[in-house]
Amino acid sequence: MKINSVDKFEGSFTVAGDKSITHRAVMFGAMAQGTSIIKKALLGEDCLSTIECMKKLGSKIIVNNDIITVEGTDKFKDNVELYCGNSGTTIRLLMGLLSGKGINAMLTGDNSLIKRPMNRVALPLEKLNAKITTNNGYAPIYIKSSKLKGTKIEMQVASAQVKSAIILAAINAEETTEIIEKGNSRNHTELMLKSMGANITTECNVITVKKSGILKPLNITIPSDISSAAYFMALGALLGETTVKNVGINQTRDGILKAFDMMKVKYSLNNIKYEGLEKTADITVYKSKIQPINLYKEIMPTLIDELPIIAIMLCFANGKSIIKGAEELRVKESDRIKTTVEMIKNIGGIIEETNDGFIIEGKDYLTGGDINSYLDHRIAMSGAVGLMASKNGGYIKNAECVNISFPEFYKMIGVN
Ligand code: S3P
Repeated sequence: MKINSVDKFEGSFTVAGDKSITHRAVMFGAMAQGTSIIKKALLGEDCLSTIECMKKLGSKIIVNNDIITVEGTDKFKDNVELYCGNSGTTIRLLMGLLSGKGINAMLTGDNSLIKRPMNRVALPLEKLNAKITTNNGYAPIYIKSSKLKGTKIEMQVASAQVKSAIILAAINAEETTEIIEKGNSRNHTELMLKSMGANITTECNVITVKKSGILKPLNITIPSDISSAAYFMALGALLGETTVKNVGINQTRDGILKAFDMMKVKYSLNNIKYEGLEKTADITVYKSKIQPINLYKEIMPTLIDELPIIAIMLCFANGKSIIKGAEELRVKESDRIKTTVEMIKNIGGIIEETNDGFIIEGKDYLTGGDINSYLDHRIAMSGAVGLMASKNGGYIKNAECVNISFPEFYKMIGVN
């Protein structure tokens, strides 16, 4: 995919629906009694993987434009093989969801997914008496029917996927489960399941989950994904003025706005409201002189997927930025510390890899050059923004992977 350099980029945009919330809406809808309606859903490849898995498990799902209708089912099919594609959220949440459903299942995925760690989910689920076999900590995963019992779990990583898997198992366990969270990861699972009638309470970093009976169906409009909005927000800061409409700004997801404050990126939030359970706003970002920043572990869960695009922005900062405590990047769709460092070097930026992040020396300009996305959607989109803001532009190899989370991306930046 050829990406040309542009002098200016302006406009008002509505980006793809939230990936995390779409996955959850489809899965939880399949667990409910009755019909769930999901509007403005994301139909990227990852969410299609979730839809296919839930259909295979016996839920009737109809997709009509961006509206998904999900019929809940009280008995999932037994002995199913589920293909989760590239999607960590699909496989990890399903591990928890299926453990307490009295069925046997096999879960696997593509070449990237089978290299991502699964013990972070399997081990806590085993504490709840789930019977899970992994391939040395990786997919394929085999789940055997077992009776779950509640327990106390101290989380080892700040991960919403792990937390959600534990909650989904715990709502089917006999006794109470107490989850001690590490860091403040996204809370869509808690918000949605509570609204469906699940017995979940949160106090500070402790989530208490009790066996929950019948779940009410969802009627939900999905906000735009701040992780997809981030590319258009960056384009506004670097190349003009952009507005991204109706973006989810849940405080467990808004770390990029805190980073913008530190970077002295000018922005305003307008039309702030609640779209169902989630706070949303129209975000306008103005062309800004970017200041260097240091980011540490505490903020990471709230901006983890935005780090590659923040790294691109920091290439234009007035000095040295240090990103630490971001080792979770190494286990994303690619090793995002390595792939971000290679991307930035290839387009003329100055960046150094560290164990748990990177150090970026800002410059007046990036020359441009060719990038490999390594089939990681967030690297492809961050690279595209970097190339648009560069002097000469360049090519992206394996560019089509943006379909994972944002199929309209290239059209919306004016590339066909
Ligand atoms: C997600 C949680 C995050 C994030 C991923 C989506 C979710 O992963 O990076 O893109 O929907 O729960 P971790 O739970 O591994 O931090």
